[in-house]
Amino acid sequence: HSIHFDIFTLFPSMFCGPLSESILKRAQEKGLLSVALHDIRAYTTDRHHICDDTPYGGGGGMIMKPEPIFRAVETVLTRPPGWQLPPEDAFVNLPPWDPEAPAPLPADVPIILLTPQGRRLNQAIVTELSHFSRLALICGRYEGVDERVRTQLVSDEISIGDYVLSGGELAAMVLVDAITRLVPGVLGYAEGAQQDSYSPGLGGLLEGPQYTRPYTFRGEQVPDILLSGHHGHVARWRREQALLRTLQRRPDLLQMVNLSEEDRAFLRR
Ligand code: ADE
Repeated sequence: HSIHFDIFTLFPSMFCGPLSESILKRAQEKGLLSVALHDIRAYTTDRHHICDDTPYGGGGGMIMKPEPIFRAVETVLTRPPGWQLPPEDAFVNLPPWDPEAPAPLPADVPIILLTPQGRRLNQAIVTELSHFSRLALICGRYEGVDERVRTQLVSDEISIGDYVLSGGELAAMVLVDAITRLVPGVLGYAEGAQQDSYSPGLGGLLEGPQYTRPYTFRGEQVPDILLSGHHGHVARWRREQALLRTLQRRPDLLQMVNLSEEDRAFLRR
């Protein structure tokens, strides 16, 4: 299984740094992740390459025009994954496209608009999306996108939280990162093992405290149980610390977790 993302944005260079480091870099090198960045502006044909316009009905702000977005998404998604508009063809030599005729888009490629109005992202949604082999992400900018993008092009809308970003780009990166680390083979064994019942991915409990050397730092010692060598005792202690931390910080998460009778007894203390 591998994943291909087609990302539609007015600011493709915002993605270059994040995609060139660490896990996402290694996932691409291993052939488990590929990302094609598509500059929406390259799909304009007017001399000033305009992608936004004033809202009907008046009011402030600018709205992203539908044609460049439809043209970009329909051109790319009717071609194989990995296809990109040759840079020299931008603006001047675009493939033919009929603004009035909807292109036959693949049914198995979600077309996701990043917007604060979308479904609020959580680990269950990340897992659901990680099962697709190709996803299209549209990054909104300005005060919003023309509603026809929602009604006729987009199949899903995702928000990464109840706050407003200046555009969907950072949200798209969050989605790429969270989805990619679920693709088998992307994480090494040590990282992957944490993907179990009590992962920090909020699939379960929050993780408890963790320590590495030195044993004493600024007068604070590592809990001796971690040095005891009793794997059973260590596992039980970690479970209890995770339960405590979750109870203290995110009691709402406890409802979603399968608690053993031993867990319940511990929490009642
Ligand atoms: N664009 C602006 N704010 C956003 C958010 N919170 N989530 C996703 N996309 C956004």
